[in-house]
Amino acid sequence: MSAVFKILFSALTKLPRCVREAIMPDMLIPPIANDPAKVQLVRPAHVYFEHPDLDKFRRFAADFGFVEERVTEDRVYFRGYGRDPYVYVASKSKDGKARFRGGAFVATSEEEFEKAAKLEGAVLGSLDGTPGGGRIITFNRPDDTFFYVVYGQKERETGAEEPTATHDQQGPFNTAFDKPRKGRFQRYHPGPALVHKLGHFGYVVPDFDRELAWYTTNFNFVPSNVLFHWEFSNMDVLIFLHLDLGETYTDHHSFFMQRAEPHVKKSFVHHTSFEVADFDTQLIGHDWLAKKGWTSVWGVGRHVLGSQIFDYWADPSGFKIEHYADGDLVNRDVPTEREVVGPFSVWGPEVPKDFAGKGPVED
Ligand SMILES: [Fe+2]
Repeated sequence: MSAVFKILFSALTKLPRCVREAIMPDMLIPPIANDPAKVQLVRPAHVYFEHPDLDKFRRFAADFGFVEERVTEDRVYFRGYGRDPYVYVASKSKDGKARFRGGAFVATSEEEFEKAAKLEGAVLGSLDGTPGGGRIITFNRPDDTFFYVVYGQKERETGAEEPTATHDQQGPFNTAFDKPRKGRFQRYHPGPALVHKLGHFGYVVPDFDRELAWYTTNFNFVPSNVLFHWEFSNMDVLIFLHLDLGETYTDHHSFFMQRAEPHVKKSFVHHTSFEVADFDTQLIGHDWLAKKGWTSVWGVGRHVLGSQIFDYWADPSGFKIEHYADGDLVNRDVPTEREVVGPFSVWGPEVPKDFAGKGPVED
């Protein structure tokens, strides 16, 4: 934060709330609702990153619980054990700089994909030659951020049994009053927390209102929670968005956006997040990553909004990447809530001071 802004801001916060909120212009998120004219998306699919050291990232990815689906000379497609043919695409950076290159969502139908192709700025492309094939639309947003809509990918067959790299035998769980597991044992071994799917990602954005309007007027993103600044109730600073699927329940957030502090001049990805099976998977996976020498950022803990059990790590390029389990589901009957920012966890380690920031990623 620049020194002048810091002084001004801190002076403002010392004024009575009614005075400071009268001085601070309203920065409120307008009501957001889905309608059939918008492009309907059904789920997040995958994210794109460029890494200076692809081999090092491959080592991290294996310890994080990704599986290599396809390896080319300068690109690796990693999958989870869900239906998506891949969930993370890592490319070798040509200039040695690490970059997030955006995330892709699956259109609900071919009709919705065609609708997206008609939006301003849409660039239609093919996913031929990638696992599962399909088609892709690219939107080049400001600050080198990207958004993609995909359709027609061949989905993976998923069996009834969840694959695991850590569980020999688990469940059912015994609780104080109800102990259905009789004569059977919980048995685990060390290993990575296998990733199921891409859950969410989000940006910290200087041009917050305009970018949020772009995503929410064109697509079926609707808010689960809107959070306002602790000093200014007229300043909304964070929004968790889910895909409106009507009566069908969907993840509490698959995308989020944070209003950047004034010293932040360029949008950046805050973190990407991938689902794992359960609490034991997360803790065993945490130990696995720690033993392999990777850098823990925050976790293991339990979030408040979304309820996920979370565990954030730094990948070798410095991007924050999360394992989560046991997230909330919402549908159109669950009302949006607006409340003051924080606390972000019910239990777990203290949140790192720089958690809202970009981390060690170079620009
Ligand atoms: Fe997250």
